[in-house]
Amino acid sequence: MNARVDWLAAPARQPLRGTLTAPGDKSISHRAIMLAALADGPSRISGFLDGEDTRATVRIFGQMGVRIDAPAAAERVVHGVGLRGLRAPQAALDCGNSGTAMRLLTGLLAGQAFDSALVGDASLARRPMRRVAEPLLRMGASVDTAGGVPPVQIRGGRALRGIEFASPVASAQVKSAVLLAGLYAAGTTSVSEPRPTRDYTERMLAARGWPVAFSAGRASLEGGHALRAVDVAVPADFSSAAFFIVAATLVPGSDLLLRNVGVNPRRTGLLRVLRAMGADIAAVDPRRSSGERVAGLRVRHAPLHGIDVPGENVADMIDEFPALFVAAAAAAGTTTIRGAAELRVKESDRIAVMAAGLRTLGVTVNETPDGARIEGGTLQGGAVDSNGDHRCAMAFAVAGAVALAPVRIGDCAHVATSFPGFIERARACGLDVRVA
Ligand code: S3P
Repeated sequence: MNARVDWLAAPARQPLRGTLTAPGDKSISHRAIMLAALADGPSRISGFLDGEDTRATVRIFGQMGVRIDAPAAAERVVHGVGLRGLRAPQAALDCGNSGTAMRLLTGLLAGQAFDSALVGDASLARRPMRRVAEPLLRMGASVDTAGGVPPVQIRGGRALRGIEFASPVASAQVKSAVLLAGLYAAGTTSVSEPRPTRDYTERMLAARGWPVAFSAGRASLEGGHALRAVDVAVPADFSSAAFFIVAATLVPGSDLLLRNVGVNPRRTGLLRVLRAMGADIAAVDPRRSSGERVAGLRVRHAPLHGIDVPGENVADMIDEFPALFVAAAAAAGTTTIRGAAELRVKESDRIAVMAAGLRTLGVTVNETPDGARIEGGTLQGGAVDSNGDHRCAMAFAVAGAVALAPVRIGDCAHVATSFPGFIERARACGLDVRVA
């Protein structure tokens, strides 16, 4: 698949300055394609993330007979075929590296009249699918996994029924899979979660005319409605912006404006945690766009101190821990992370990968089953491995900016899954990152 690419991140010789717009939100981009495909008529998606993960979703709907035009890199026009208009694919559907594609599509495909199979790359092939398959089986679906991991085989033509599902994991992907199957189920499908997770599926269904009742940690809908085609402007991905938020906070003299960032509170736990550590981040021009909260984020350098990361923030910053590990490594004092065992089943085991890399850079990190204790201090140079995890690679690039000597980062090609053009944008605002 991806040829191996290593990066070299050198200590910053200048502050981060100017403005930067991160690529479109990955979660919203996937859902925008999926819901537009099931809507009646064409929908235009602007600000679309043209990354490998979301391209996989586009390709998959193409295999099911949905025409999707790309008038520009960050734009897609999806010619929706209606709730029952998808066609049987002729081959397995390849989700690549994308857990979101695979989990959400498992739910959506469980309600179709045809059989399908979902496959993924080596990282995705290790990620848990039972958490999605179990509630779908309870709804009457036929979903087989390979001992709890991909590939996933789905038999169509099942009569689904709504369930009341209390999810044992706080996972927007699980919640969304069950809700998408619920579109095709008789009666009401309800999901409750141990902690509230991102609510894009609920919001975007509602915006397309499907009645959904939702509040923090709970969502409920009934089958048998229709989806209206709606144009959407996707905001910049907070999770991609996060690397620059941390970099600008850590590099002395920095003053960086991140534009048009999606600041849904279910995504911005990192802002709360960084501010509690001493960061100087101001929201500029907050507004609503396509039903989502959006703002500019002005980040100025500030010295950080370690904290105990409150457990209630974990779900709201689940993708930001690699960046937080680096912030904690450069902060004064100790940062303790607990209740974040989910990090072990992301694109890599992010606790193990970040701990190993930071230790190589001379940082004291004690791993625990559900988190870590990080003793902040000075980072040395060295060679670390991202283990093919896009967010770990970008986090280590930030580590290189604040280290005393260059950091070589192994296996960075997967950054294109969520942040195509990371190196160019990083260099444009003053970071010294390049392909090694
Ligand atoms: C996502 C949910 C999160 C997140 C992932 C995207 C989504 O996963 O880590 O990058 O779009 O629903 P979980 O919900 O499984 O924690």
